[in-house]
Amino acid sequence: MIKNGHHHNHHQVNTAAGKDAGTTPGATACSPEKRRRRIRVWCDGCYDMVHYGHSNQLRQAKAMGDYLIVGVHTDSEISKHKGPPVFTQEERYKMVRAIKWVDEVVQGAPYVTTLETLDKYNCDFCVHGDDITLTVDGKDTYEEVKKSGRYRECKRTQGVSTTDLVGRMLLMTKAHHSNIDTSDYQEHTDNFGKVSKFSTVDLVCHGKTEIYPDKDGSDPYAEPRRKGILRTVDSGNSLTTDAIVQRIIKNRLLFEARNQKKEAKEIAVIQAMKRQEEEKTKERAQAVL
Ligand code: CTP
Repeated sequence: MIKNGHHHNHHQVNTAAGKDAGTTPGATACSPEKRRRRIRVWCDGCYDMVHYGHSNQLRQAKAMGDYLIVGVHTDSEISKHKGPPVFTQEERYKMVRAIKWVDEVVQGAPYVTTLETLDKYNCDFCVHGDDITLTVDGKDTYEEVKKSGRYRECKRTQGVSTTDLVGRMLLMTKAHHSNIDTSDYQEHTDNFGKVSKFSTVDLVCHGKTEIYPDKDGSDPYAEPRRKGILRTVDSGNSLTTDAIVQRIIKNRLLFEARNQKKEAKEIAVIQAMKRQEEEKTKERAQAVL
């Protein structure tokens, strides 16, 4: 388990003597404040190419309780059930830990969510978006926790998914991606350079990557540089969007197969749900007759 230091501190401030009342049996005996047990929430998933859909899911989950634990699957589990992830498990653990609603990350959580896992981490229930996650044999990964009433649903964020992002990147070629001379990009950098955006800013930071000049050849950071408020920060990581696109392109066939598999599964689930709905409507109509 990785503790999210930032939030852990926050909780220490909010609980008596910095204790996690939710996990301490008998801690409920004293004051009314202590009597209210903290609700521990569990989420799990692949969290590959972390996007705002993921953080919105974790935000909603956190709002359902007090302490949020997120189980992230290993690369081999994901490969087995849905195809290879783009980001390695170590990268995915880091990305999830960086989301501000997350209190703790459990590395290598099992793909199928069991009561045993919820109990192991003292979680009251788990939360998942309102879509269905299936195992490689087509079983609902939340079947057990749903049956025992320890499953809650939150709204899935429309219009964004890892599958869709991978699909978009598969459409890119290196030449396309590297072409930063598009009007949108240029407008952004031009405005950035010419209008003073730095009058109320004390410090301007840029990573160790190259700073590309504006269309007219000028330095977009000329102003902060002149004022002496430009600093280079080291992210400690050499990853770039270009490198991610390259990973995807390199494994194009694997990712195409993964996306097709996922789409086929989803279509099958939608059709099964439709059939169920039709059956119910028929039954209701017959009951009326
Ligand atoms: N999720 C969400 N909104 C999205 C995408 C994901 O609420 N747009 C939620 C899922 O419902 C799940 C959690 O984020 O509760 C983790 O999802 P994950 O296992 O990473 O898989 P998906 O994002 O659903 O898969 P993919 O993006 O590959 O389609």
